[in-house]
Amino acid sequence: MTPYSTRRAQLIALMQAKGGGVAIIPTAPEVMRNRDADYPYRHDSYFYYLSGFMEPEAVVVLIAGEHPKAILFCREKNLEREIWDGVRYGPVAAREKFGFDATFPIESLSTEMPKLLADTPSVFYALGHQSEYDEKLQGWLGSVRAMGRAGVVAPSAIHNVQVLMDEMRLFKDADEIALMRRAGEISAAGHCRAMRFSGPGLREYELEAELLHEFRRQGSQYPAYGSIVATGANACVLHYRASDAILKDSDLVLIDAGCEFDSYAGDITRTFPANGIFSGPQKELYEIVLASQNAAIEVTRPGKHFMDGHDAAVRVLAQGMLDTGLLNKNKVGSLDDVITNGDFRQFYMHRTGHWLGMDVHDVGEYRDLDASIAGGEPKPWRGLQPGMVTTIEPGIYVRPAEGVPEKYWNIGIRIEDDALITNTGCELMTTGAPRTVADIEALMRK
Ligand code: GLY
Ligand code: MN
Ligand code: MN
Repeated sequence: MTPYSTRRAQLIALMQAKGGGVAIIPTAPEVMRNRDADYPYRHDSYFYYLSGFMEPEAVVVLIAGEHPKAILFCREKNLEREIWDGVRYGPVAAREKFGFDATFPIESLSTEMPKLLADTPSVFYALGHQSEYDEKLQGWLGSVRAMGRAGVVAPSAIHNVQVLMDEMRLFKDADEIALMRRAGEISAAGHCRAMRFSGPGLREYELEAELLHEFRRQGSQYPAYGSIVATGANACVLHYRASDAILKDSDLVLIDAGCEFDSYAGDITRTFPANGIFSGPQKELYEIVLASQNAAIEVTRPGKHFMDGHDAAVRVLAQGMLDTGLLNKNKVGSLDDVITNGDFRQFYMHRTGHWLGMDVHDVGEYRDLDASIAGGEPKPWRGLQPGMVTTIEPGIYVRPAEGVPEKYWNIGIRIEDDALITNTGCELMTTGAPRTVADIEALMRK
């Protein structure tokens, strides 16, 4: 068994529990960037999770019934196209290599699918994600219904296969954990390289180039998301992308970047002084954010809920805002008032974490949908369990404003690490990049 065939068997078991049927999981389409040039191809995460197959124009079909079966539709071999674009497995080699019970050329999808959908109770398919396949499915179901007078029964239900798979993907298996640790290591190495290279006078994109160099050098296929390299006031723009400003001597640099390694994402943020030495006010705020991250890490463990980390971080951040005078005690009141009234949101306006996996904002419910709640209240936040992976990423962003001490203006700080929930707590997979003031300054001195 490979991890992929194990997951296919697990999904088939979940489908059986819903009465059985046929699952259809296509990979992502190729997308044209401009004339004759495509965007770099990235397979669909659900499809890859079940197949390990990276070519475009492919579909996994799983049969959950009396005779369970895993089928792959893929491109035929084509010498001419392979001369231009590289080797294709073709159905024969793909069956052997990827362990499917059967493989077919993708061209035969429209003739095979009506046969596979005949006399099956349900279809497991994610409607509304790929209109091309929504239309194809309509056509296939129409063909099955047309056989009704011959006694063929068409599926009577459609289940969202992603709902079943999201729950599987939320809990990382041993192979995924190994890949995520590697993604974390490489991402951390990229941050270290950018920190070492940093210096006043450089452009933000020069640091980005260092990150990308390290990611690629260590075998990452691409960044897991658009890297954010933001110096000075740009660090207060949460999704800053321009990346062309000049690093000033007295500025902080915030880098939020992670690599994708064999389909799994790292997601790290580090904030460091462009010149290698934190100023007094920078250090004050940095220590608050670091303490808030440590408070969140402490409660990132089984027995706690997804939102406990955020609540712990907010408490420390809000106290720090009062202590430094970012928030004026006389105006906003006590710590509890600041939290209840949400005044802290002036300087901390995002959540402290999100699931991480194949997608940087990974799949999985954040609330316990099985909990029974009276009176239309929201469901409670989900309990943390071993195998889940979440980011822990508190921050403080100070835009100039009346009443805010000027020494903190335009400081933006975030510290982000990736945590695997273990039986007893959490394992940070991204500690290769320094987090404390002393460790950052020491690395930058080298
Ligand atoms: N880089 C995206 C995030 O931190 O959520
Ligand atoms: Mn993140
Ligand atoms: Mn991030």
